[in-house]
Amino acid sequence: MCGIVGYVGDRSALPVLLEGLKSLEYRGYDSAGVALPLDGCLEVVRRAGKVDELIAATAGSANGQHSGIGHTRWATCGEPSESNAHPHRDCTGNLAIVHNGIIENHVQLRQELVAGGHVFHSATDSEVVAHLVEAHVNAGADLLDAVRLAARELHGSFAIVAIDARNPGAIVGARVDAPLVLGLGDGEYFLASDVAPLLPYTRRVVWLADGEAAQLSPAGVRIVDLEGVEHAPSSSEIAWDREAAEKAGFPDFMLKEIHEQPRALRDTLRGRADASGELTLDELALSPEDIAGVDKIFIVACGSSYHAGLVAKYAFERWARIPVEIDVASEFRYRDPVLSPKTLVVGISQSGETADTLAAIRYARRQQARTVVITNVVGSSISREADGVLYTHAGPEIGVAATKTLTTQIACLWLLGLWFSWARGALSPEAAAEVIADLWRCPEQMEEVLADDSRVREVAERFAPAEGFLFIGRGVGYPLAMEGALKLKEISYVHAEGFAAGEMKHGPIALIDKGVPVVAIATHSRVLGKLISNIEEARARGASIVCVAQKGDERVLEVAGDVLVVPQTAELLSPMLDLIPLQLLAYHVAKARGCDPDRPRNLAKSVTVE
Ligand code: F6R
Repeated sequence: MCGIVGYVGDRSALPVLLEGLKSLEYRGYDSAGVALPLDGCLEVVRRAGKVDELIAATAGSANGQHSGIGHTRWATCGEPSESNAHPHRDCTGNLAIVHNGIIENHVQLRQELVAGGHVFHSATDSEVVAHLVEAHVNAGADLLDAVRLAARELHGSFAIVAIDARNPGAIVGARVDAPLVLGLGDGEYFLASDVAPLLPYTRRVVWLADGEAAQLSPAGVRIVDLEGVEHAPSSSEIAWDREAAEKAGFPDFMLKEIHEQPRALRDTLRGRADASGELTLDELALSPEDIAGVDKIFIVACGSSYHAGLVAKYAFERWARIPVEIDVASEFRYRDPVLSPKTLVVGISQSGETADTLAAIRYARRQQARTVVITNVVGSSISREADGVLYTHAGPEIGVAATKTLTTQIACLWLLGLWFSWARGALSPEAAAEVIADLWRCPEQMEEVLADDSRVREVAERFAPAEGFLFIGRGVGYPLAMEGALKLKEISYVHAEGFAAGEMKHGPIALIDKGVPVVAIATHSRVLGKLISNIEEARARGASIVCVAQKGDERVLEVAGDVLVVPQTAELLSPMLDLIPLQLLAYHVAKARGCDPDRPRNLAKSVTVE
């Protein structure tokens, strides 16, 4: 959940590091720091708070260094403070490291190192890495070997980057279960937690694999595994451009990403589902025979990705007539789920790094289940763990709240559901072609919904002072109610709950009082009539009713105080359109309450610890 960056080359390193840390700030922003070699010593600057504090603190610093490392932190071990900020130095002060992840055996390692004379200055698990590397350097190893040998002693998840002022022309990185990507420039090299810091300089990257270490110097890149065996670097090109990683004129990344959804959905569908109803999902590595052998599907995910799974369950069961179970990933692996080679486990994670989802997929593989994952990040840890991968192609999502990654996850799940229905003969080719045609209409319909943003904003600003919101839905609207509530609470810090509308009378209705906003997902469905009765019950108790509804639906107009209109589409595809007003509602309430929607407090974009 921290962001790390390293540079070696001809440029002045400090601006490269600071710019890189700014673009990684969504991964963590409670403190930041840099280490740069200067005249045989390391200059280390660290500050509590956001990267801007660090930028201010380095304003007068020398700019002549051509290598360095930097870090922006999301605290996991040791409170957010300057002394716990990275980089952490060894006892000589010449060597420093930055770390992303968790060192599970840090207490034992610290005891051994202290007994060996090492002096610690922070309360973090990460500092043990600096001293371990130091111990190996003292024993005669060069920096690459020292980092590799240290990595072998660490338990947990980590990406580390190290620098030694006595050899300022090289930086070294290593990873196990945490992301690290190398950027290859012309005589200059970069290391970072993701591609955002590299994009201003290069699109040529090497995704470091689990258990690899790399040394970067102007002479080139050397990659070894933790045993010291050389690996040839295998590079690939990043299709994302620099602009895609910036705000493109929107005030916040979240709003930009909400507006990118029509494009993202087109990219997700392109090449996989054509308008004539043909599906091409070779990347699944699942033949029709494999699918015929599957008798049950488990979906595992966390947060909004879990809601994507709930939405998909309705479609899978109705289209493919196959039982689907869904779990939050943190529960799945500890409850002894019954899996077999006939089970397909689908993991959903936009980042591809969520510790619980990753562990759930590993668990499933150990139980001989087949696995497919849906992720937005090419080369992410989860993409390397599963039998098949469906990439969402949403482009980088910088806002902490999932928006375009969620809608594209749902699209991928629907394609998977259609693939199953086709292979199982559960849906006629005509019916499947109709769904695909409806799906291809969605991007344009999403544009229509986005064009009505000012209406959502007006409603949001009116209700922004409310102390709590309820979201209700039935059928596929139920997970949307949960998602609407999650989005609102995570970015505007207002209490919000999402319920199955039929459950209202079993408890939640007690929360309803005069003026409490109740947001109902009231688009066309086989249970709309029943939902309208539930809305009436809330209205009779004084609630202010906001409905997401389809154009011209008179029944809804009669019960709603406010209507957020979406175009008509098939019931099961309605989440694609209904999610947009819910996202915009959360965004505008957050703005009206003075909250930063891109960086909600206590949250990080990538949750790499349990
Ligand atoms: C909510 C949100 C989180 C993530 C969750 C899973 O807006 O973004 O709830 O959905 O942390 O993350 P991934 O999909 O990266 O596994």
